[in-house]
Amino acid sequence: MRASSPLLFFGICLNALFLLASCEEQQIPQDKLLVVTVATKETDGFRRFLRSAKHFNYTVKVLGRGQKWKGGDYMSAPGGGQKVKLLKAALEKMKDKEKIILFIDSYDVVFASGPKELLKKFQQARHKVVFSSETLIWPDRHLEDKYPHVREGNRFLGSGGFIGYLPNIKEMVTGWDGENHESDQLFFTKLYINPEKRKAVNMTIDSKCRLFQNLHGALDEVVLKFEDGRVRARNVLYDTLPVIIHGNGPTKLQINYLGNYIPKVWTFETGCTVCHEDLRPLTGLKESEYPLVVIGIFIQQPTPFVTVFFERLLKLRYPKNRLKLFIYNQEPHHEQQVSSFLHDYGNLYQDVKFIGPEEEMDSATSRNVGFDMCRQDKDCEYFFNLDIEVVLKNEDTLKIVVEQNLPIVAPMITRVGRLWSNFWGALSAEGYYARSEDYVDIVQGRRLGVWNVPYVSSVFLVKGSLLRSELSEHDLFTSDVLDPDMAFCDKVRSKGVFMYATNMHTFGRILSTENYETQHLHNDLWQIFENTLDWEERYIHENYTRIMKDKLIETPCPDVYWFPIFSDIACNHLVEEMEHFGQWSGGGNKDTRIQGGYENVPTIDIHMNQVGYEKEWHKLLLDYVAPITEKMYPGYYTKAQFDLAFVVRYKPDEQPSLRPHHDASTFTINIALNEVGHDYQGGGCRFLRYNCSIQAPRKGWALMHPGRLTHYHEGLPTTAGVRYIAVSFVDP
Ligand SMILES: *[C@@H]1O[C@H](CO)[C@@H](O)[C@H](O)[C@H]1NC(C)=O
Ligand SMILES: *[C@@H]1O[C@H](CO)[C@@H](O)[C@H](O)[C@H]1NC(C)=O
Ligand SMILES: *[C@@H]1O[C@H](CO)[C@@H](O)[C@H](O)[C@H]1NC(C)=O
Ligand SMILES: *[C@@H]1O[C@H](CO)[C@@H](O)[C@H](O)[C@H]1NC(C)=O
Repeated sequence: MRASSPLLFFGICLNALFLLASCEEQQIPQDKLLVVTVATKETDGFRRFLRSAKHFNYTVKVLGRGQKWKGGDYMSAPGGGQKVKLLKAALEKMKDKEKIILFIDSYDVVFASGPKELLKKFQQARHKVVFSSETLIWPDRHLEDKYPHVREGNRFLGSGGFIGYLPNIKEMVTGWDGENHESDQLFFTKLYINPEKRKAVNMTIDSKCRLFQNLHGALDEVVLKFEDGRVRARNVLYDTLPVIIHGNGPTKLQINYLGNYIPKVWTFETGCTVCHEDLRPLTGLKESEYPLVVIGIFIQQPTPFVTVFFERLLKLRYPKNRLKLFIYNQEPHHEQQVSSFLHDYGNLYQDVKFIGPEEEMDSATSRNVGFDMCRQDKDCEYFFNLDIEVVLKNEDTLKIVVEQNLPIVAPMITRVGRLWSNFWGALSAEGYYARSEDYVDIVQGRRLGVWNVPYVSSVFLVKGSLLRSELSEHDLFTSDVLDPDMAFCDKVRSKGVFMYATNMHTFGRILSTENYETQHLHNDLWQIFENTLDWEERYIHENYTRIMKDKLIETPCPDVYWFPIFSDIACNHLVEEMEHFGQWSGGGNKDTRIQGGYENVPTIDIHMNQVGYEKEWHKLLLDYVAPITEKMYPGYYTKAQFDLAFVVRYKPDEQPSLRPHHDASTFTINIALNEVGHDYQGGGCRFLRYNCSIQAPRKGWALMHPGRLTHYHEGLPTTAGVRYIAVSFVDP
């Protein structure tokens, strides 16, 4: 951005002249400003700093690139003498006396505004050198008395950022002859608290955070302010809009948080538009050019819908010859499902490594070993962690996250009806979950973006190169105190590596693994309460939701309604479950009321309560049948309580048909569980009063008719094969 045009500038001065009768000061041209920083290592924080500098058009000079960092641990830097030494050397080569130097840390710094505002505020400070200020004194508390008092604002000096004229800064650092590990902050503090030196250098501190905001000790003072699609951090204590935000000391996570908004340009509808300019678009790549990904699948507890998980895995849109699988299964319960998947489809993938329950590997080790599979394979560009309870509805998920080209990125998934997600917005002081201010908005999709977060789990992508560099330790998941997921994130954070979660697309959800019963043949049938949506997708007919809107309900006989309710798989599972249970009875226990009396109409059947399915069946009737009943028989309300619910088996040589009878119900539901012509011949139902038959029952469709009075009916003979129906007498 250019400075104001001369004409405009003149106009401003003219105005000022009238007001103040003084306009001696020219605005400093922006090209006089040079940002100088020290970065021996290109951390994610450093890249973020450069992105923000580029966004505002700062010119940046980076010192120390590729040098070994000797100024102490950069994550919690005491020391920093190396920075001063590098600065001193660099300044010696610079001659322009008008030059303004902004010397600033970069691993944990973002710009919130551009050079013009920075220079203006610098000029308004009316000193040749301006240091950032701190609420806390450091590193030597004994110097407190020597510090000059300030009228308002912070009293202490922070060396993480300062700005000044080249000659004054040269003068300031000329006396430096300390060691690399010595404290730069102490050095500058001693200059500042010495009145002569302070005057000679003409230095001051930015006590009200007009230029610099150090976050340490000041978190409560800083809030985000949203305006016109832009975000600024505001210091509410001094009512200032700092230009530079520094997550110094223990405020690394807070600067990561603020960095999600600053300096991005935001709209809440489309998310950030200036997030990651270094995106690598994958579009147009040939299949063979897709990055090779190792998908790590972890089964660590009995989990519903494992078969569906593998069906989805197969449908993931990514060339299978660019995928390798690492499967860890700790559960004998799931061995059959895993081995049948591997048997049928394993050879589609470039490679498969499988670890079963017999290896008795613990969970942390399995994850370490999974990472190793990518780490030790130089062709592996990404590791995609996918826990078995993850439901990836978006078939492009892997492509999308690979395209993000980030070190670690999780597609956001949530849990239906709960405020749960596979990322955390913030971290408590003890390192556990804490809710960030924007968490609910992100989880519920009111804010979209790619978010720098302190914790991801369940499904996330890690760069292979990262596993071979910063994250090369074999035991990232191992810890004496933390669970594997937390241990991993803790290590990642401590290495200064950023983790992201994206909610720019909808990706899917996570299953609840609680209350999962394992004693049945098809345990997923029992999931109607715990994982209702998944149960519905698996077991309810795909056209069920359209039956009202698209008038799919048929009326084959008077007051008899016919509609799709069960999927093919639901029918198969129910029949298989009953056959697996096997205790078919000749009944004698179904009293069906006929014309005022009772008569016994026995069937060969198994009752829902015999297989422990009555609660689930009631919910099915309540949620999927009752709404239709109430619609078709207006004025009638049902609690969907049933006296009897059972699966009937008709066979030519066992019981082929059922003689005419009334049902002991207000209404009856009769669901065909297999297919005429395919599984059996004959069958059907005839209503005698209306001389009306349904002779080709459709698999998965329910017949609903009144009981007791009008719909006297018989079961027509099954002439070949075996026919199954699920019958419920509902009352009231
Ligand atoms: C940075 O410079 C470019 C090109 O000179 C300009 O288009 C852009 O608006 C500038 N950005 C800012 C934030 O001033
Ligand atoms: C510091 O510099 C400013 C101009 O930037 C000047 O007005 C002021 O008098 C100087 N202060 C001292 C103590 O030299
Ligand atoms: C659902 O309806 C569509 C069109 O109406 C049909 O093509 C499809 O076969 C139906 N699905 C099933 C499982 O019957
Ligand atoms: C019942 O219907 C069948 C064919 O639909 C017809 O042949 C028969 O005559 C009818 N019986 C009575 C009693 O109406």
